[in-house]
Amino acid sequence: MNNKTIGRSGFSSSFGVLAATLGSAVGLGNIWKFPSLTGANGGAGFLLIYLLATLLIGLPVMIAEISMGRAAKANPITTLQRLAPKNSLPWWLIGASGVLAAFLILSFYSEVVAWVFAYVFKAIGGSILSSDRHVTESAFGALISDPLQSLLWQWGVLVFIGGILLMGVTKGIEGITKKLMPVLFLLLLLLCAVSLTLPKVAEGLTFLFRPDFSKITSGVVLTAMGLAFFKLSLGMGTMMTYGSYFRDDQNIPATTFRVMIADLFVSMLAGIAIFPAVFSFGFEPSAGPSLVFITIPAVFSQIPGGQLLMIAFFALASVAATGAMLSMMEVPVVVLHERFGMSRTKATVLTIAILVVLGSTCALTNSTLANFKLFGMNMFDLFDFASSNVLLPLGGILLALFVGWVWGKDNFLQALSNHGALGNGAIAGMVFFLLRYVSPLLILVVMLKGLGLF
Ligand code: PFF
Repeated sequence: MNNKTIGRSGFSSSFGVLAATLGSAVGLGNIWKFPSLTGANGGAGFLLIYLLATLLIGLPVMIAEISMGRAAKANPITTLQRLAPKNSLPWWLIGASGVLAAFLILSFYSEVVAWVFAYVFKAIGGSILSSDRHVTESAFGALISDPLQSLLWQWGVLVFIGGILLMGVTKGIEGITKKLMPVLFLLLLLLCAVSLTLPKVAEGLTFLFRPDFSKITSGVVLTAMGLAFFKLSLGMGTMMTYGSYFRDDQNIPATTFRVMIADLFVSMLAGIAIFPAVFSFGFEPSAGPSLVFITIPAVFSQIPGGQLLMIAFFALASVAATGAMLSMMEVPVVVLHERFGMSRTKATVLTIAILVVLGSTCALTNSTLANFKLFGMNMFDLFDFASSNVLLPLGGILLALFVGWVWGKDNFLQALSNHGALGNGAIAGMVFFLLRYVSPLLILVVMLKGLGLF
């Protein structure tokens, strides 16, 4: 046994576990990915597929990851080595692929977080407070097409998140997310209330929720499944790592279910906040991920005290993004620390250094590297596609197969039990059935079809 994993710290309270896990799930995925993907891919039809993917694949995989992590109390690579029988397949490669996925996601994610951080300051300065779409559009364009600003904001974000990680799991991750998650909910509710008073509420909500099944193609189904993985931080060892910090008396299925519902709730609130505003101010609803940076300022400029609220909104989006980034960065950090014997400080610094290099290729996609493409995509889109639509689902299949066929039902049920009591056996049995038969097959079919492989 690697002695670096003995006496490791973890989450100290039940609320802390929930806040940190929810802190990983809730992030820019809710505010920036969910509304634009739902809007662009057929509204309620897409939502339905996303919900199915979350229930049939996301929930079981999340329960699997967390229970594996708690059983082994180690980083993803060591966890798989410990739980796999001797001389079996190299299952630890799932952990290694998770580290790769973490680097790819962090590379583009940190750039979007950089925009969010920059917007806190722009909101304070007042330069983006305008209901004129040309003003908010050109402010955003100016930021993302400036190479120096893009790089500096991104690097600043990386160092900031690294700093929190250095404070450790309990004080850093748990301490920060516990305080800030409740405030995020309140602010989003307020934003929705404002948005629902705008003139084109009906059009906005229709766009978001009207089912348009003609838009559903196999590629769209893959996107919905990728979103389910991305949203719940699955398929790359993040939840496994957090599972290793779970308390032994924490009810894993109940926590997972709560996180899923709360995460969905935040996504819906974000959609309801954004789309009525998009229509009321004449924006293009298919404008994609940049929407939030252009519409939100326009909404706030309409209401008294809007500037203050806008500052608060971007500050809280920064918080949501911070919780998610912390959980992602924790994966390579804990692997380098526990597997390669580096101190946490060295592991964090090395992770940041790698991300400064890799992330720059994403930060510069709207300027210096605008014409640099691989497989027809710029680096930002390529990293997004490769992680959400390939690596995370692949990790999900392998994890489900591992639990369903290698680790086995007894070990799984044991790992889910609270202090020896098996808890709700029927639920655990159903989750196991999904992991053994349903999830891997579903993921495989959707992936192969979505990637055009059959
Ligand atoms: N779940 C986060 C979001 O929706 O913003 C993103 C994320 C965090 C993905 C952690 C993957 C991960 F491991």
